[in-house]
Amino acid sequence: MNKDYSRLLNPSLEDIGAYIVEGGQQADVKLNQNESPFDLPQWMKEAILDEFKKEAWNRYPDILPFRGIKEYAAFTGVSSESVMMSNGSNEMLYTIFLACLCKGKKVLIPQPSFSLYEKIARLILADITAVPMHEDLGFDVEEIIRRARDEQVGFIVLSTPNNPTSKSVTLDEIRRIAEEVEAIVLVDEAYIEFSRQESAIGIVMEYPNLIVLRTMSKALALAGLRIGFTIANPELMAQIVKPKIPFTSSRLAEITLKHVLGNYKLVEEAVGYILGERSRMMETLLKFETLTLFESDANFIIIRVSDSKKVFSRLAGEGILVRNVSGYPMMENCLRFNVGLREENDLLLDTLRASS
Ligand SMILES: Cc1ncc(COP(=O)(O)O)c(C=O)c1O
Repeated sequence: MNKDYSRLLNPSLEDIGAYIVEGGQQADVKLNQNESPFDLPQWMKEAILDEFKKEAWNRYPDILPFRGIKEYAAFTGVSSESVMMSNGSNEMLYTIFLACLCKGKKVLIPQPSFSLYEKIARLILADITAVPMHEDLGFDVEEIIRRARDEQVGFIVLSTPNNPTSKSVTLDEIRRIAEEVEAIVLVDEAYIEFSRQESAIGIVMEYPNLIVLRTMSKALALAGLRIGFTIANPELMAQIVKPKIPFTSSRLAEITLKHVLGNYKLVEEAVGYILGERSRMMETLLKFETLTLFESDANFIIIRVSDSKKVFSRLAGEGILVRNVSGYPMMENCLRFNVGLREENDLLLDTLRASS
């Protein structure tokens, strides 16, 4: 019989589970991970690979990916000392949480929000102050400020536009929170390219307690390459990077980044297409009397149906994979799907019309 060694492990493992993508990652029409429906064009992939072939594969990349950092700093208009590149923004979330939290330290997380925040906080045994969204799933900024001050929270995490609600805070609200609370404020802008709100990158130098997180997995269509960025005041950045795992960004990631930023017009065209489709889908969904539609500020849409499990299965039967987000607080019977190609969206709308 195998001996049970679980008592020797970190006790907080009992409080968390392994990350799962409910419903899996395979489907004819895959709309469950907020990815871009557009892959990079073949000519760009070939140019990237030609350059990658010239690299020394037997040599470590730089400890921190300085080439990529420089490219992204030039692209966003901040100094290289204010930028860190990572192997997806998830990696940087672990790094930032390790830098800002420890056992018993307080973190404020609006709820519902991206599940990884709570998971990492639990792992580090931080105390979570959960602030519920308004009924319409919008942020309750007054309550965030009040609770953070009353409970002396030192770290606030805002996903804006928020996954899974698709609602945002405004730049003025970010300013207010950063000014009125004595806390480090992490603003996760994974979906900012689709938002009506302005990015907080422009105010990072004004607020030494502000950290902005970006990913290339959504609008920039590079989920498979794993590229994320953090932008902060250089002094804060010098602290945040201390727990970072070295060498996590590959040479391939740095080269790809350069090509994608150099052809940013393609990203803008893709974002334009997705926003056009989002409006078209919202207009159609508004006419469906059997569901509740929430306003969207990202590349995904939230609906509430009468029986989310049933609708999820009906969609799956047609080869359409969406995310059943009804397990999140306040999101009973809600489904989330990202905007896909026009024909994929039509199939989704037709199936929803027939089944919700
Ligand atoms: C709010 C938010 N932050 C971060 C991530 C992680 O993105 P990645 O690790 O692909 O950069 C996601 C992915 O879904 C997300 O929704």
